[in-house]
Amino acid sequence: MRHIFWICCCVTTFAADLRAQAPQNAALAGGPSATAAIPQTNPFSSDADIQQGSALFQKHCAVCHGANGEGGRGADLTAGLYRRGGRDPELYASIRFGIPGTDMAPVRVTDDEVWKMVGFVKRLGSQGLLEKAPGDAAAGRLLFQSMRCVACHSIGKEGGSLGPELTDVGRRRGLKFLAESLAKPETDVPIAYRAVEIVLKSGATITGIRLNRDDLSFQVRDTTDNLRSFLMENVKEIRYDRPSLMPSYAAIDQKAFNDLIAYLNSLKGTQ
Ligand code: HEC
Ligand code: HEC
Repeated sequence: MRHIFWICCCVTTFAADLRAQAPQNAALAGGPSATAAIPQTNPFSSDADIQQGSALFQKHCAVCHGANGEGGRGADLTAGLYRRGGRDPELYASIRFGIPGTDMAPVRVTDDEVWKMVGFVKRLGSQGLLEKAPGDAAAGRLLFQSMRCVACHSIGKEGGSLGPELTDVGRRRGLKFLAESLAKPETDVPIAYRAVEIVLKSGATITGIRLNRDDLSFQVRDTTDNLRSFLMENVKEIRYDRPSLMPSYAAIDQKAFNDLIAYLNSLKGTQ
């Protein structure tokens, strides 16, 4: 769900960015290369290219993104997840043209050098796959069942749907993000998982995630994972006081916490 939303979003904003940037970008690079179609795959991705990309990154990018891409004033580039798109031509566009309306300006280097940095950025983005979690994934798997995470999250075919599917969460998210998801779930709540409270005129209150609303009715998935629809004429109030339905697990003991993270990190998809 969240994935689909993101992809649509990236494609449209990417196209809009390109259009908005076209004149500026031709002026910047001062040649026809900037207006030519962007190659679909990186022509500079050998180990030697990536090595040079690393040096260029230290010079032009580390000030905002950190020496290891860990982020700071700029985005964290280690999770391998990009709001502006993670395909080669999309990364190229983010770096070549900058991101309008943000701190990130176009960089003054040659097109070849941009490609070398694309290669390096991709390598940074795959770190999440190489990171070694300190906990025990097998123990974490048992905790995931006994702590009832599975009531809200599915892995493969099994589990609830009040929270995002976690089948490939270890590929999508770095360790830092996973730890924050457990300790402070309210930090990053995708719109599709926004918690809602419906107060009915009868006095009953229903908690769940918001699915849909039209003039006549309001649909939620309630905390027992059932789809429910309420006629607006019976609804007294709709509240969004609590950002996430997921409880914080900041207080559980350190070993259990690490084991859960190790398990989540081990979830790389079904292939
Ligand atoms: C002045 C600070 C600054 C510098 C320098 C900078 N960036 Fe950024 N960068 C940002 C910010 C801020 C964002 C997030 C923009 C947004 O989406 O709101 C960003 C976003 C990005 C993204 C897109 C991330 C995504 O989620 O899609 C990439 C890729 C990126 N930067 C790579 C680079 C590279 C490579 C360089 C060096 C050539 C660089 N940046 C230099 C601040 C900077
Ligand atoms: C009552 C339902 C509920 C329970 C129980 C629950 N979660 Fe969640 N979880 C959610 C919701 C809703 C979200 C999305 C909103 C957010 O990120 O806070 C979420 C988000 C997450 C994310 C981030 C996923 C992503 O793709 O960004 C992870 C990881 C996660 N939960 C792990 C766990 C683990 C591990 C447990 C058990 C220890 C657990 N959850 C228990 C509802 C739940």
